[in-house]
Amino acid sequence: MSSILDGRAFAAELRSWVAERARELAMRTGVRPRLEVLLVGDHPASRAYVRTKARMAQEAGIAGGVRELPASIDTAGLLAEIARLGADPSVHGILVQLPLPSAIDVAAVLAAIPPEKDVDGFHPLNVGRLWSAPRPLESGLLLPCTPLGCMLLLEAVCGKDGLAGKRALVVGRSNIVGKPMAALLLARDCTVTIAHSKSRDLPALCREAEILVAAVGRPRTIRGDWIREGAVVLDVGINRVPTPEGSRLVGDVAFEEATRRAAAITPVPGGVGPMTVACLLANTLVAASRAVGATPPALPRLRRHLVAAG
Ligand code: GUN
Repeated sequence: MSSILDGRAFAAELRSWVAERARELAMRTGVRPRLEVLLVGDHPASRAYVRTKARMAQEAGIAGGVRELPASIDTAGLLAEIARLGADPSVHGILVQLPLPSAIDVAAVLAAIPPEKDVDGFHPLNVGRLWSAPRPLESGLLLPCTPLGCMLLLEAVCGKDGLAGKRALVVGRSNIVGKPMAALLLARDCTVTIAHSKSRDLPALCREAEILVAAVGRPRTIRGDWIREGAVVLDVGINRVPTPEGSRLVGDVAFEEATRRAAAITPVPGGVGPMTVACLLANTLVAASRAVGATPPALPRLRRHLVAAG
């Protein structure tokens, strides 16, 4: 039987680490970290995510809030909002919630966020830094939040040096999760494979993986008998599926089946999701530290928050 990684407990530990350092920074410099989130249109899941981000930021002593913009805004209008926040020295982090309406030029939007305020790590300069830094996790870079959260979970479970040489499979090749996740696993000396919708024999690829990161976006795609005995499984999927009572959230992995083979696995909800938000706050702290000329704090090694399955 697996251990279940209690993402809420890991994230609570990371948020209190951020809160403590944000308080220290404010006491030393008089500057309170500030994060501004832009929400375009009313994608219901996005609205729920940004509310959680804003509430968690406030609880960690981070200033700022959510700016809601109409779905009808065009690229120029959104770029003007970003330019305003970019020019405001009291703003340390800017996040534009994705997905954006199809009429908006996403690449232009991401490239318009000043790299030093890019708490998502999606600006091309930050993407390049991630791939080219010899030690991206030790370099105070702004790293994409979901992959960063996954790495902190893996390091807590396997140890920082316990990842070297492991066969890691990332299922999904998005810019938000799959590609940066692969870069971070590679930086920890894993042997990394990226699988995607055109990959042949996904079950066989999964059975090889000692570390499996599922970021497919389709419910319960990865079955229990695809999981290698003793693997560590991180499920990034958040899929709403109908039930007789209404609906519920499930991951990309068939969780119950997978617990019979994995050594450790994240649940959905309550696994990777809370870590994404906590990492956003950590990135805001890094950006604010840099803005006042302070060295950003090194990322913490989190305790193991494990629960026995079943
Ligand atoms: N939509 C889903 N995940 C993310 C994320 O990490 N950042 C942003 N900006 N939008 C998202």
